[in-house]
Amino acid sequence: MQIFAEVTPIRDLIIKSKKEGQKIAFVPTMGNLHEGHLTLVKKAREQADFVVVSIFVNPMQFERSDDLNSYPRTLDEDLEKLAAEGVNAVFTPTPDTIYPEGVDSHTMVEVPVLSSILEGASRPGHFRGVATVVSKLFNIVQPDIAFFGEKDFQQLAVIRKMTHDMALNIEVIGVPTVREMDGLAMSSRNGLLTIDERQRAPVLARTMRWVSSAVRGGRHDYASVIEDATDQLRAAGLQSDEIFIRDARTLMAIDENTTQIVILMSAFLGKVRLIDNQVVDLSPEPKLDEENSDVE
Ligand code: PAF
Repeated sequence: MQIFAEVTPIRDLIIKSKKEGQKIAFVPTMGNLHEGHLTLVKKAREQADFVVVSIFVNPMQFERSDDLNSYPRTLDEDLEKLAAEGVNAVFTPTPDTIYPEGVDSHTMVEVPVLSSILEGASRPGHFRGVATVVSKLFNIVQPDIAFFGEKDFQQLAVIRKMTHDMALNIEVIGVPTVREMDGLAMSSRNGLLTIDERQRAPVLARTMRWVSSAVRGGRHDYASVIEDATDQLRAAGLQSDEIFIRDARTLMAIDENTTQIVILMSAFLGKVRLIDNQVVDLSPEPKLDEENSDVE
């Protein structure tokens, strides 16, 4: 596995691999790798000849410097894990390499609407930072396919739209959330939880499943379902940040064309903000006779 901090050498290696006919897969990360990231890497390995992973804690997507500074950085362990997965190249640029004249004077990529709703409304500039760094990394790596976790549902939607709008010839693949045994979605932020907070954290996923079955069970009074879920979180010592029930395709309000909804939840445990989401199919379960209609 080769490790690069500068743009030109990794670009040259990838150009050479492409000339040899290799398919390039890319997994952008901010490091502190866990099973969720390694699942993305495994999928990339299955679908390409040459796998590139980037590790870059992107200052442009953090609104608070304390959040940026406390983001866990574990480069040595990360590199060991990536080597064990058979990754070909790792890109570990510094902020000066990505933003040579500083973050504020760098060209920015803005995906309108999608970036300013939901999580974007409470984290202004966050998705602009994500879209900017991902488009820059895409330009450096020039992958054929790129992998992102579905855990960051809105981020994935923003990246898909940016890739489509900018006519980038890259297939963006979403990979289902990997969970701990107790249901907690894997996240680099989980490591910041105290022992007590870690024990309470699965309540987020449990409450989300409750919302899902309430909606599947026919509750369409979404505002009061959200209120009930907020109460459940509060009772377990989590401070609900945001709960949204939206059309999974557009991320807009549910209407008569909605066939799949997404439940997007975030909550604070102490200072740590956890997020999770679940897609719920609204189409009725197939009846047994419909299901078996082609069986004589
Ligand atoms: O999901 C992440 O880890 C980051 O937002 C990403 C996509 C690597 C961009 O910095």
